[in-house]
Amino acid sequence: MKTAIVVHGGAWAIPDALAEASVAGVKAVVRAGDAVLKNGGSALDAVEKAVSSLEDDPVFDAGHGAVLNTDGEVELDSIIMDGKTLATGAVSSVRNIANPVRLARAVMEKTEHVMLTDRGANMFAERIGFPAAHDLVTELERKEWEHYKKYVVGVKELFNSQWGHDTVGAVALDSFGNVACATSTGGIRNKMVGRVGDSPIIGSGGYADNRSGAVSCTGHGESILKVTLARLILFHMEQGKSAAVAADTSLQYMGERVQGGGGAIVVSPTGDWAARFTTPRMAWASVKGDVLCYGLNPDEEFKEMLK
Ligand code: GLY
Repeated sequence: MKTAIVVHGGAWAIPDALAEASVAGVKAVVRAGDAVLKNGGSALDAVEKAVSSLEDDPVFDAGHGAVLNTDGEVELDSIIMDGKTLATGAVSSVRNIANPVRLARAVMEKTEHVMLTDRGANMFAERIGFPAAHDLVTELERKEWEHYKKYVVGVKELFNSQWGHDTVGAVALDSFGNVACATSTGGIRNKMVGRVGDSPIIGSGGYADNRSGAVSCTGHGESILKVTLARLILFHMEQGKSAAVAADTSLQYMGERVQGGGGAIVVSPTGDWAARFTTPRMAWASVKGDVLCYGLNPDEEFKEMLK
């Protein structure tokens, strides 16, 4: 069976200064995830590899490079889900963790729960020997935060007016026919302390089910939560729509119903995939077979053959 993987580096108005690095980042990471699949690895291993690599890249809003809350601190959210069993792990509002997606997987595999939050998630991380990371804040983010904290506006206005990145994610189909998804984020700059967006919430920031497909979302979290965007996309696929039409239909619904922008990557159990967004830009890349596709601007798709 042909494997497939799609990754995103977040929907938003990515500035020209970060455009090249964003595209280079998603292209490198999709190749790393594809290598896991081509070596016989599982979809779950591939999405964990891809998302943890994006968390390590300071260009993206996740792990290193995450945005700051109103107190100038990093609080991170992540989810990972196995489409074979519906096993899910998630963490929200964790601090000083470089790879929240790995912690989410540990919640899935080492506890009886689906999600741990805040202090409990950090206590669990310490108990299982996760290293603490105290260098997650970039100089650029500290400067941006200083600039924007002057404005007393909500995160939706900030989301619509600022340049930046939002969230990283991956979906994959492995050679055994299993799908998986993973999503990770620092959220939205100037969010309230303790605010949790869509990313770690099952059915909103991500969902994976071998019977319909896998989705990872990005965009305005409060809007995505209200329409449970990941499940909405899979609902449309269950009704017979292609991955691209299901994503477009759902993103359009979110725009009309709650005036929210965002994006999604999707893969079906047959390898039908899509990367769609309603924000000005979203860095994404995919590999299916020997073809690597990538893009940044709407209706843009570049193709390369893998050697
Ligand atoms: N989409 C990420 C967030 O709103 O937190």
